[in-house]
Amino acid sequence: MKRAVLAGILIAAFSAGPVLSAEDPIASRKAIMQSVGAAAKAGGAMLKGEADFNAVTAELILRTMNAAAHGAGELFPEGTETGGKTTASSKIWEDRAGFDKAMVKFQSDTAAGIAAKPADIDAFKAAFGAATENCGACHKAYRIKKE
Ligand code: HEC
Repeated sequence: MKRAVLAGILIAAFSAGPVLSAEDPIASRKAIMQSVGAAAKAGGAMLKGEADFNAVTAELILRTMNAAAHGAGELFPEGTETGGKTTASSKIWEDRAGFDKAMVKFQSDTAAGIAAKPADIDAFKAAFGAATENCGACHKAYRIKKE
């Protein structure tokens, strides 16, 4: 049962892949963020004990986030400030350096988590915690809340 829950979440994370297209950066960045959201959910499930700790899954979660941190930055070109139900804040284009810096921090925090090779739930908690601090920090600064 626990395993089925986790498998479902991870399939959701990776099925975002085919949606990606350079012609539609808004849909692509949303799909990437959804994969990150699914990875965060899978990690949360392990931390809450809803899924058993598994080192391979833990690494996969951190790698999904790291891949997104490397791929998402270029999906915010000029001209995609609006449309496609984006919740990206105009601050991204007003403060590009700050946004890029936040993305680089997300890259390095997730890379550090992968390098730490968490082998138990406590180690994973530390790596996952450092990685997911980036979500709220960046969203607060560079994403608008829409109903
Ligand atoms: C450096 C900035 C940054 C970081 C770090 C970041 N996000 Fe995002 N995220 C965004 C932006 C900007 C959007 C809005 C994209 C849009 O609507 O065009 C977004 C959107 C989302 C969405 C909504 C996607 C949709 O379908 O509209 C989810 C879910 C999400 N992020 C999850 C996460 C999680 C979980 C993390 C951390 C593990 C994270 N994000 C880290 C910038 C970031």
